[in-house]
Amino acid sequence: MKAIEIRNKYLNFFKKHNHTIIPSAPLIPENDPSVLFTTAGMQPLVPYLLGEKHPAGNRLTDYQKCLRTVDIDEVGDNRHLTYFEMLGNWSLGDYFKEESIKMSFEFLTKELGIPVEKLSVTCFAGDEDCPRDTVAADTWKKVGIPEDHIYYYGKKDNWWIAGEEGPCGPDTEMFYDTGKQPCGPNCEPSCDCGKYVEIWNNVFMEYFKDKNGYTKLKQRNVDTGLGLERMTMLLQGKETPFDTELFLPVMQKLQELQKIDSIKSRRIIAEHLRSSMMIIADGGRPSNIDRGYVLRRLIRRMIRHMNKLQIDLSEISTLIDINVENLKEMYPELEKNKNDIKNVILEEKDKFVKTLAHGEREFNKEMQKAKNEGKEQIDGKVVFKLYDTYGFPPEVTQELAEENGMTIDMKEFKDLYKQHQEKSRIGSEQKFKGGLADQNEKTIAYHTATHLLHQALRTILGDHVKQSGSNITEERLRFDFTHPQKMTKEEIQKVEDLVNEEIQKDLPVKCEEMSYEEAKKSGAIGLFTDKYGDRVKVYTIGDFSKEICGGPHVTHTGNMGRFKIKKEESSSSGVRRIKAILIKDEQK
Ligand code: SER
Repeated sequence: MKAIEIRNKYLNFFKKHNHTIIPSAPLIPENDPSVLFTTAGMQPLVPYLLGEKHPAGNRLTDYQKCLRTVDIDEVGDNRHLTYFEMLGNWSLGDYFKEESIKMSFEFLTKELGIPVEKLSVTCFAGDEDCPRDTVAADTWKKVGIPEDHIYYYGKKDNWWIAGEEGPCGPDTEMFYDTGKQPCGPNCEPSCDCGKYVEIWNNVFMEYFKDKNGYTKLKQRNVDTGLGLERMTMLLQGKETPFDTELFLPVMQKLQELQKIDSIKSRRIIAEHLRSSMMIIADGGRPSNIDRGYVLRRLIRRMIRHMNKLQIDLSEISTLIDINVENLKEMYPELEKNKNDIKNVILEEKDKFVKTLAHGEREFNKEMQKAKNEGKEQIDGKVVFKLYDTYGFPPEVTQELAEENGMTIDMKEFKDLYKQHQEKSRIGSEQKFKGGLADQNEKTIAYHTATHLLHQALRTILGDHVKQSGSNITEERLRFDFTHPQKMTKEEIQKVEDLVNEEIQKDLPVKCEEMSYEEAKKSGAIGLFTDKYGDRVKVYTIGDFSKEICGGPHVTHTGNMGRFKIKKEESSSSGVRRIKAILIKDEQK
């Protein structure tokens, strides 16, 4: 069964069970600078898991584009991926454990045809925060899982939470027995030997965790996630996702092009290329921080491995073409953004080829210095500097050192790297929390200001103005829109004045739910049409602005503060960018 068939079967199965199919949210969360990438299907749904009403109802299903970077350095082995697709179904305060387990069992055995004896399941063992999940285990027994295929584990294995705080709960996980020999008498699903592969995770999300511990959520939710690449691999009896149709065309081309043979390098190239393409298609661009840096590392690592296999870098374009052809049915956005994807990757290649030379010069200088001091080892600090400043993965430096009869202090490098990672981990966790669980007053006001700005631009400049992107922090908003030329000073002033007038009118902000068609008919402006589901929320601000949007927004404009445009500049060809702030203290 091909990946796309599994995806379609999944969505249709849950549709048959009264779930609404909602579109995948973008890989890069919109209007949410607080998270790097979407890492799970539940992530865009957090407000609804916490109790907000979802316009598409309380039974949802989707495929979600996800990117996880924790294992980026493991890519190249037989299982780790950065980009992956997660199939999911949700009950937002509707069905709970029994119905969820029954549906999962039916899908696995009937729709996918997996024999019952290949399945094992795990349930939460219970502790002081939450009782043993006998309901889940009993239900598994009832549907036909033999008792000796049901395991109980503690929080480490059977509890799910994104980060440190947020909605969470015990989960039940389904495992597929690959038929490999057990690694020993105690071989169980929790074991990492490869006999058992986790295929699906149903989280019974009825708790909320914060600094003070666990409390019950307003509603009992179900959140499930099934990794598409893994399921595809297992159903096709393949050893790795790289042997499935998702990667095969690129893998084969690489084999044809390479002058040096390395399966690991081919996997890294194929994996990083697909992830980079998905990120760029959703608007990501390489940079030195946050998401941009993730993209940069992916592209650079890919390039280094192409060099390693002695593949001409001009072939990147061919590889992109192959991926677009191969994946466009699943991800039409790849075809739509093909030119962008090529330009961005090729530009980054050109940049890296330059840093590569600088980095090598720096390396030679440091190596000479070490040699002059009679050392045979390059300091970890130098390795880290090459990594941090020139984007050199440590193994490149190691290879360079070896060519010169030297070694590197890997331990010191790892320590420095860990410190650095720890800092960014704490950063990301805080970001994850900040963006989802508690949207704060400031970001909400900026969000409403974006709507006012959007409409003001259309009023002053004309209806050709369309939002093409936005980004909000607690300090400012950034708004990209289509407009062919630089705005004049007068235009900027008029837009600013208009927004301030509307703020001062203390207009009420109303939210209505309707079908996408009704919303369009009512004259609501909306962006990126294909991201909306059938039911949408429309926010009106007085009779000034009407826009399709997920919210949240202020209830009245009066207290937002004074709106001030700080900058108007070019963003890309035909797209202008405004940065603006809200000044709270200067009450007017
Ligand atoms: N949130 C859970 C996971 O990511 C189930 O969707 O595995």
